[in-house]
Amino acid sequence: MTESLAPSHTSVLLEALIGGVLGKTNGTYVDATFGRGGHSQALLARLEPEGRLVALDRDPEAAAAAAAIQDPRFQFVRRPFSQMSAVLAELAIDSVDGVFADLGVSSPQLDQASRGFSFMRDGPLDMRMDPGQGQPVSDWLKTASVSEIAEVLRRYGDERYAGPIARAIVARQSAAQQGQAPYLARTRDLADLIVQTLSRAGAPRESQHPATRSFQALRIFINHELEELDSLLDQSARIIKPGGRLAIISFHSLEDRRVKQAITQSKRAASFQRPPGMGRAQSAILAQALAAQPRRAVWTAATRIRPLDRERASNPRARSAVLRIATRAQP
Ligand SMILES: C[S@@+](CC[C@H](N)C(=O)[O-])C[C@H]1O[C@@H](n2cnc3c(N)ncnc32)[C@H](O)[C@@H]1O
Repeated sequence: MTESLAPSHTSVLLEALIGGVLGKTNGTYVDATFGRGGHSQALLARLEPEGRLVALDRDPEAAAAAAAIQDPRFQFVRRPFSQMSAVLAELAIDSVDGVFADLGVSSPQLDQASRGFSFMRDGPLDMRMDPGQGQPVSDWLKTASVSEIAEVLRRYGDERYAGPIARAIVARQSAAQQGQAPYLARTRDLADLIVQTLSRAGAPRESQHPATRSFQALRIFINHELEELDSLLDQSARIIKPGGRLAIISFHSLEDRRVKQAITQSKRAASFQRPPGMGRAQSAILAQALAAQPRRAVWTAATRIRPLDRERASNPRARSAVLRIATRAQP
């Protein structure tokens, strides 16, 4: 049975994701990004008693929310999804019927000033999804060079004014080192610095806050979000059974491009294992012949789904969401 969770996060593309990932209703599934459990609960509502759902999240508050779900079919493990295969092995699960992920940050992470994700709410300049791992953005900005900061802002935020912003950050940190100004320690400090820098550089006014791209870039960098995603895609191609499904919701083109490439381009050679009784020489010839065959697609039947206007109007997070669903090819 499931106790109700605080409705602090409105799940995006709920029906489309669950309908898309769910095949066998008595199968085993992974929710790689539990958040507040909206997608997990919707899947549990459709699973039979023999079904199983393993949920992951690296955020301690997601773990606290997961503790409210009392259901024998459900297990939560607080780990990054790059460790999905290791977690499943620890649970003695060698393959699954589906994996889904709803990438990025949850509304509670953004809304809570103390997590340091938001330029709208002043808080410590942190941005880690797991505050026990890695370093907060404020620490990184104390030691990073102009070129390192500019590279992050350009690569992960597509920020045209990456150079001027990086120079302003490093100038501010140098002044702090000499006791002439405080270090950048709060989200508002950084947001104000970016606003001033863009205005001095004559950047055109735009509808979104001028710090949006820089905050996105620093968050992606400090949480290794793209490396995590690559690892999840790679592991999913091995852990999902033939006929099983992968469903990923992404929120910007850097993520969506990776998901698209992984499911439309990944190919593998037919796998070969020496059958018992076959000699080594004969098996080597057979393996070589198989490896020379055309490589086969790992995924088939990929679909792309965008939220309907109704959902985009009622949930601002849905505006940039893209859901891709793929089916694991038969061997
Ligand atoms: C958009 S929210 C998920 C919301 C969830 N689907 C729901 O309906 O409540 C994304 C969640 O993924 C988690 N997350 C992001 N990257 C992660 C990673 N590499 N490993 C584990 N969790 C991650 C975040 O901590 C956050 O809680």
